[in-house]
Amino acid sequence: WDIEKGTYPHFMLKEIDEQPIVMRKIIKAYQNENNELKLDRNVREAIKACDRIYIIACGTSYHAGWTGKQVIEKLAAIPVEVHVASEFSYNMPLLSAKPLFVFISQSGETADSRAVLVKIKAMGYPALTITNVPGSTLSREADYTLHLYAGPEIAVASTKAYTAQIAVLAILAVDAAQAKGITLDFDPMQELAIAANAMEMLTDQKEAMEDLVVNHLEKARHAFFIGRSSDYYVCLEGALKLKEISYIQAEGFAGGELKHGTIALIEEGTPVIALATQANVNYAIRSNVQEVVARGANAMVISMKGLEQENDTFVLPHVHALLTPLVTVVPLQLLAYYAALHRGCDVDKPRNLAKSVTVE
Ligand code: G6P
Repeated sequence: WDIEKGTYPHFMLKEIDEQPIVMRKIIKAYQNENNELKLDRNVREAIKACDRIYIIACGTSYHAGWTGKQVIEKLAAIPVEVHVASEFSYNMPLLSAKPLFVFISQSGETADSRAVLVKIKAMGYPALTITNVPGSTLSREADYTLHLYAGPEIAVASTKAYTAQIAVLAILAVDAAQAKGITLDFDPMQELAIAANAMEMLTDQKEAMEDLVVNHLEKARHAFFIGRSSDYYVCLEGALKLKEISYIQAEGFAGGELKHGTIALIEEGTPVIALATQANVNYAIRSNVQEVVARGANAMVISMKGLEQENDTFVLPHVHALLTPLVTVVPLQLLAYYAALHRGCDVDKPRNLAKSVTVE
């Protein structure tokens, strides 16, 4: 990995662009020469032995955890809970009989996550860390580690680590399914490769995202992201990215929840970015878009090939329904990047934030 910016104006843009390469590195790292999944056997045994997975993380890694839950539950039929580390520490839920803890952390040094790791190890529970830094504290102190292979991430706002986390969680889900004797009706590695190609097509369309920012977001005071099902989790991440680096107040909402309060905030011209990549909720999210448009919102719909409708702002290439977060997040990362850029913000080093937070 090149740890210099090279011709890029910012690390964040470079790291957004590196995402397809990271996907391909992950595919290679987790496959043997016969194209079979190659994962630490002990991880497989730990998954087989558990009755519930507890994902613990902070920030962007926490958002990746929600997609991980979706994929693991759908493919491997293991119940998964996702918790913010700082909450879990002080307000531990009732645990199942045989929990497996999965810590997701780009840096492997986040103090909030480590505090939970220390607690659950003292209770005698097994822990797996998914991290970009194999020698990190969370990696050393957990029983097992899965590497993200994303290369150094320098920009404070996490991008390639997020998509790497989702890809590795998907591979973990496939491994868990195999461990339980569940046969999948698709080739997961091939689907990941398709997603990598789609990500590359999107990183080649930066101008479209910059135009959207210039026309609709640059001067906004606030913005909303709405989506349903797996799109909802990406909305949380899209809103976080925008907040972190452009300082536009942004929130991600489940499409159906808007009407229970937040819709009161929609006024003439409020930017609402809607994700529509899931067939079973396509109709529902579209009616949420109509609800906000009827109240004056400036809605931008990002949909997926096969589900697109006339006037959609942007249509993403088609990828497997469980892997859509890998592609939906790319335009949202670019929106945040260009919003920060056009607002004159320090893209790579936003105020008040640190890359790795080592205090609780
Ligand atoms: C900090 C960073 C975030 C990151 C979070 C968790 O707050 O600014 O970008 O998502 O920590 O970091 P981790 O290294 O544990 O993934």
